[in-house]
Amino acid sequence: MIPLEPYYELSDAELDSRIGAAKATLGERCVILGHHYQREEVYKFADLTGDSLKLSRLASARTEAQYIVFCGVNFMAEVADILSAPQQTVLLPDLAAGCSMADMADLAKVKTAWRALGGVMDVENRVTPITYVNSMADIKGFCGDHGGVVCTSSNATKVLSWAFARREKVLFFPDQHLGRISAFTLGVGLDEMVVWNPELKLGGHDPETLRRASVILWDGYCSVHQMFQPAHVELFRSRIPGIKVIVHPECAFEVCRMADHRGSTEIIQQTVRAAPSGSQWAIGTELNLVNRLKNEMPDKGIHFLCPTICMCSTMFRIDAQHLCWTMENLAQGEVVNVIRVPEREAASARVALNRMLEIA
Ligand code: 13P
Ligand code: SF4
Repeated sequence: MIPLEPYYELSDAELDSRIGAAKATLGERCVILGHHYQREEVYKFADLTGDSLKLSRLASARTEAQYIVFCGVNFMAEVADILSAPQQTVLLPDLAAGCSMADMADLAKVKTAWRALGGVMDVENRVTPITYVNSMADIKGFCGDHGGVVCTSSNATKVLSWAFARREKVLFFPDQHLGRISAFTLGVGLDEMVVWNPELKLGGHDPETLRRASVILWDGYCSVHQMFQPAHVELFRSRIPGIKVIVHPECAFEVCRMADHRGSTEIIQQTVRAAPSGSQWAIGTELNLVNRLKNEMPDKGIHFLCPTICMCSTMFRIDAQHLCWTMENLAQGEVVNVIRVPEREAASARVALNRMLEIA
């Protein structure tokens, strides 16, 4: 295996030309998928880009490529492995690229919560577990095994409707914000939702409160999106009359409610691209995507909604050095940083993911 360290001695131009050369050598055998939050040096090499839902679909559709190099974070690469064909191999250029929100709901805590809820109600018949795609494969597997489902930022409302048509309650994890705004959009009142604190007995509630609740939201959040505040929306509106605000649904409830538009990274991109020249936009999502849209559309006024820099540091771990190292190893027949979900876990997770893909 070629070691990684020497790649940090290369110039940007050398990295670019070597990634391009390795890509040309691998040809159709390799496809690079890139999430919209990837830094530009990496994103420009992606054959296909998208939000989590689009990338899940692409991973299951691109069966001709032997290797899927996933420029994103680990749960996305796991989904690609679960949904791709058995002969395909998924690689994540830096195995430390994770998601701090996904880490907020681990399997042991979710199982403990499920058992505790089972002590106060008929959990298997009354509650649907829904996991945001930003979760590890074992959590998705838990949902698959308990009549539950996965959702993404672009289909959470549809998935919740599906769940309410089957069972009366939902346990939603790990992102409380996505769960709250999506349920509220469906007409569920805030007084029908409770937040489950995994560190407290019965999540911090008495049995009666839990029996009354329609939606039990896990106490998880994205540290990047929680930076956007209602005051930022007010500030832009006072400074630039007529400005449109668009945010990702991982933002806090009040911010989502104040925004003119809300959507996944793909929806944000499509909405701003479709807007007329000269229009003004304040965007509440990760900085790399906002900067890319700004550079792409100099005829529009594109602003980052937060006055401080908020970037996803784990997405940022995938740099040109790691991509070049991964691709050159692959071109020489060395397969590095493989993401392989054990089949038993993958089978259960696939059930929950396929339910989502059917609903959406
Ligand atoms: P999208 O599915 O909208 O791309 O979101 C993924 C994510 O991690 C946002 O923080
Ligand atoms: Fe996770 Fe937030 Fe990064 Fe998205 S932006 S990958 S939710 S930490």
